[in-house]
Amino acid sequence: MRVKAVLIAMVSLLAILAVQARAGDMQKGREVYDMHCVTCHGMNGYAIDMTIPSFANGDRMFLMDQEMLQSVRNGKNMMPAFRGLLSDEEIRDVITYLRTL
Ligand code: HEC
Repeated sequence: MRVKAVLIAMVSLLAILAVQARAGDMQKGREVYDMHCVTCHGMNGYAIDMTIPSFANGDRMFLMDQEMLQSVRNGKNMMPAFRGLLSDEEIRDVITYLRTL
């Protein structure tokens, strides 16, 4: 019985930690977005013109995180590369945020 109680306590704690880690990433992602992406992709994910994906409309949301990471890192057509400016971790945070827009 005791062992079971300890196990349940540990699993609950892990679940709480996992949720907090995710929330933290999203918050950091928002900061990155507001600093580096908002000028083109717009406030709340509505892009400033038709040639730029509006994440709030679901544009490009079919892409895998890894594909988005590549595009943000290396740039794509009119989008500048963020390699050197943002770490992969920051790019992953901002992708987590994009998915919430
Ligand atoms: C100078 C304007 C500009 C800025 C700043 C910008 N983007 Fe973009 N972004 C674009 C344009 C234009 C495209 C469409 C590229 C294409 O498919 O031709 C795009 C496409 C994308 C895509 C889809 C990539 C793909 O493979 O189709 C993602 C994801 C993205 N941007 C994320 C970001 C993030 C995150 C930031 C900030 C770190 C950012 N963008 C900053 C203009 C910009």
